Amino acid sequence: MTPIKDIILNKKTSIKPIWIMRQAGRYLPEFREIRKINTDFIKLCLNEKLSTEITLQPLKRFDLDAAIIFSDILMIPYGLNQKVEFKKNFGPLLGDLDLNEVSELNEIDFVNKISPVYKAINLVSKNELTYNKSTIGFVGAPWTLLVYMINKQSPKKNLKKDFYKDKVLISKILHILEKFLKVHIKNQIDSGAEIIQIFDSWAGLLDEKNIPNYIYSPTLNLVDYIKSLSTPAICFPRGIKDYKKYCDIIKPDAICIDYEVDPIKVKKEIHIPVQGGMDPKVLLTDKENLKKEARKYLDIFKDHPYIFNLGHGVLPETDPNMMDYLVKMVKDY
Ligand code: CP3
Repeated sequence: MTPIKDIILNKKTSIKPIWIMRQAGRYLPEFREIRKINTDFIKLCLNEKLSTEITLQPLKRFDLDAAIIFSDILMIPYGLNQKVEFKKNFGPLLGDLDLNEVSELNEIDFVNKISPVYKAINLVSKNELTYNKSTIGFVGAPWTLLVYMINKQSPKKNLKKDFYKDKVLISKILHILEKFLKVHIKNQIDSGAEIIQIFDSWAGLLDEKNIPNYIYSPTLNLVDYIKSLSTPAICFPRGIKDYKKYCDIIKPDAICIDYEVDPIKVKKEIHIPVQGGMDPKVLLTDKENLKKEARKYLDIFKDHPYIFNLGHGVLPETDPNMMDYLVKMVKDY
């Protein structure tokens, strides 16, 4: 039993395991070196040798309790033949979606297109660096993927005015996503992923009245599917106003909280294992402040099953020495 699974399944409170969202990424010079000569991000994700190496880079430096596979939530639209590019200083840029083509796409073609992701999961889970650590697979939540597939770029703070206009298109995309997200989850688990995290990065963009339709219903369906494969699901509905209601309805095995959430309120109201919370910007300050802020979360969740993580991905400008300090501090707590 790995420490993270011990928290999730046995509700242990005596250990505080740690992993960090985006732990493999641009704050590491060894990642930037590989990235510099591999200018196509999707191709890099689909190079199983390099994506395995990148996934393991943070584990070579820090005593983290999980490896999260180096891939992207936008692998799904890519697998569905929607063009996906990453423009420097802009973020993702998607092409038009041909629904006729997508409806005819079969599972085998989809899996073949992104199969290096599964090979990398297999290589990572078998590597000695992940001994007694969890290999985490992930997907984007249906809502967040819908946002990217229709909006074709990060929405920043608002959706396009006519986002909801084509209801038929929306319902067709959600239907297709349900099928292929399940295929992607199943293949990750069969390849060695022991936990699945669902990233709903744009959950905070929805009005209350639209949440049941676009978040609760499709996410509950996915979480139930993950549970049916005897695998724990961690959900991260970033920016959602009511985390308690989300947990009551979706019943994930653990909930990952963002940095705008009051951890004391969460500790009082939510009775499932909790992950994350600390603002990634704390890592840009100094060691004393980092220690104080990290301790705040550790103290609040002292008697609660808790996995240390941040309230969003680690920022590219983070000094790896600060990460080192954080990991050691959490381990010594
Ligand atoms: O270490 C890990 O956490 C695993 C790898 C991972 C990546 N993306 C690699 C990546 C994971 C789990 C993701 C998830 C992801 N991707 C999310 C959900 C989490 C979140 O951040 O809210 C989202 C919304 C995406 C879509 C995406 N991919 C965006 C918006 C961007 C551009 C922003 C940025 O940080 O540059 C990406 C690119 C991306 N995905 C990078 C990495 C390491 C940066 C690529 C580069 O080197 O230029």
